[in-house]
Amino acid sequence: MSAVNFVEVIGQRIEISCMSEHDLLEVVEIEESCGLSRWGWEAYHSELAQGDSGLMLVARDLDALSNAEEHRVAGFIASRYSVDELHVNNVAVRPKFRRQGIGAALIKAVLQAAASRKARRALLEVRASNLAAQALYARCGFCVIGRRKNYYREPPEDALIMALTF
Ligand SMILES: CC(C)(COP(=O)(O)OP(=O)(O)OC[C@H]1O[C@@H](n2cnc3c(N)ncnc32)[C@H](O)[C@@H]1OP(=O)(O)O)[C@@H](O)C(=O)NCCC(=O)NCCS
Repeated sequence: MSAVNFVEVIGQRIEISCMSEHDLLEVVEIEESCGLSRWGWEAYHSELAQGDSGLMLVARDLDALSNAEEHRVAGFIASRYSVDELHVNNVAVRPKFRRQGIGAALIKAVLQAAASRKARRALLEVRASNLAAQALYARCGFCVIGRRKNYYREPPEDALIMALTF
């Protein structure tokens, strides 16, 4: 994914930029610790290999980078652009970085990238019980347009379908 180059700094501390292979161990660790539906290292890796259609970003903790700390990725988003639609697959932020605008900034960045490619719509599924994520998506302009029965496993649960029209 070379054509898109986002850099956005929130409070001088967090930088949003393209995900690289070097981020994947942390991305998978965040995914697992947040209880998201499992993708795992190989799925993210193959998504990165898709080139420009995969819009994969990380929020980097610049303080951790300069202090050589173990955890440098504060959050990530995995999304994909196809034809004229953006599909947001996963977004997660480490607990200690939540409610600081990072999740919203990650979503905003992929929406901007999709808009610049003339996307007509952005779409995602979210667990019916995940009120925090639903609030985040609503804050970013998504509306509920439907429900998929028993879409999720472990535990089984319906998905709400949320969409944003550009
Ligand atoms: C959902 C998640 C990504 C939000 O990340 P975040 O960085 O904390 O979100 P932001 O700080 O950008 O929040 C933006 C807005 O979203 C809404 N929001 C975010 N978290 C919320 C919560 N726990 N409860 C209610 N509203 C919430 C609020 O409107 C918030 O604005 P405010 O803080 O000014 O009130 C994070 O809680 C997370 O990683 N959860 C676990 C993984 C997950 O469920 N991912 C979604 C899978 S579909």
